Amino acid sequence: MTILVTGSAGFIGANFVLDWLHQHDEAVVSLDKLTYAGNLANLKSLEGDDRHVFVKGDIGDSKLVAGLLAEYQPRAVVNFAAESHVDRSIHGPEDFIQTNIVGTFRLLEAVRVYHAQLHDGAAAFRFLHVSTDEVYGSLEPTDPAFTERNRYEPNSPYSASKAASDHLVRAYHHTYKLPVLTTNCSNNYGPYHFPEKLIPLIIHNALSGKPLPIYGDGQQVRDWLYVKDHCSAVRRVLEAGKLGETYNVGGWNEKTNLDVVHTLCDILDQERPRGDGRSYREQITFVKDRPGHDRRYAIDATKLERDLGWKPAETFESGIRKTVRWYLDNQGWVENITSGAYRDWVSKHYQ
Ligand code: NAD
Ligand code: DAU
Repeated sequence: MTILVTGSAGFIGANFVLDWLHQHDEAVVSLDKLTYAGNLANLKSLEGDDRHVFVKGDIGDSKLVAGLLAEYQPRAVVNFAAESHVDRSIHGPEDFIQTNIVGTFRLLEAVRVYHAQLHDGAAAFRFLHVSTDEVYGSLEPTDPAFTERNRYEPNSPYSASKAASDHLVRAYHHTYKLPVLTTNCSNNYGPYHFPEKLIPLIIHNALSGKPLPIYGDGQQVRDWLYVKDHCSAVRRVLEAGKLGETYNVGGWNEKTNLDVVHTLCDILDQERPRGDGRSYREQITFVKDRPGHDRRYAIDATKLERDLGWKPAETFESGIRKTVRWYLDNQGWVENITSGAYRDWVSKHYQ
């Protein structure tokens, strides 16, 4: 048995593949375009492991995807491939439309054709689409957390493109009876998180003696989940999710951005104190806000917990400490990324 995982060289996809092969012997075919966010170093520990095959390619390349499906006959496709950074979608939405909408459409088409000719495996086949809580828009401070019944109100080009992909997945179930599942997860953090996103960016800048940029007033709220808990949720939904359903995934960990940055500074003060004995908090700098910045996200994961018995293993306190330690122990991984093209993004975006 084999599964096909797309976007497997990115942050969550790589964690998913590593955890999968740690727990199963079921083979994985990895498909990733290796954009700026895709990094084969994330999968380095699988070199020489014959349960894993890596293929460089685009989910929008219909011929390639059809060939992979025919050759490897996967019993499931798990789709992590996406352009994922909100700020980049504001600077240039085109790639988001191409990969998140057109790419997902082409992938669905290839999977639909493949599924239609399956005989014995057709009933057990699954297409699991990994999506985000951002499709639901922004909450007021006293609003209840998002449930699966919230209407879609995406606010950024990124979230609008993910919302469009979710609708396509839903339509392929309704119209063609493709056996799909969708997960909508809150903000992830953990190992292999690309240092353009808040948590790894703050750790990297703190250690480099650079400013810690907080957009606007820093009172925006995100709901944080340790990446391995997201991976266990995806595995559980793949195993037992009801066809055509969506499942919210979250850790009940709402924090303001400023609180998250303070926590990171405090852990770094303990684990890697500054040479001058002062706190990393002194590096905090308030910068221009993100255009259209969503104020609050919060996920109600009751359905996943009640119907499928999933629970996160980490609290925010345990997960964030593990994460800081991982970055301290893997400075070489960060240094490999923070050279070259990534520097251009930082100077363009933060001026
Ligand atoms: P990421 O940007 O770290 O990784 C995305 C991966 O997809 C990269 O390896 C990239 O090379 C690959 N990719 C991009 N375009 C591709 C294409 N056309 N064909 C094949 N591969 C392509 O993203 P991530 O944070 O790991 O997110 C993975 C998925 O989870 C995304 O769909 C994202 O929307 C969703 N998600 C992310 C979070 C989060 O907090 N990071 C939360 C909820 C949902
Ligand atoms: O909610 C799930 C989403 O979480 C995923 O769908 C996205 O792929 C993922 O990137 C993430 O989106 P966010 O925009 O919430 O994540 P980001 O790390 O970019 O920012 C987190 C918060 O921190 C957000 O309110 C913006 C703020 N921020 C971010 C950066 C990079 C800052 O204040 N300063 C910064 O330099």
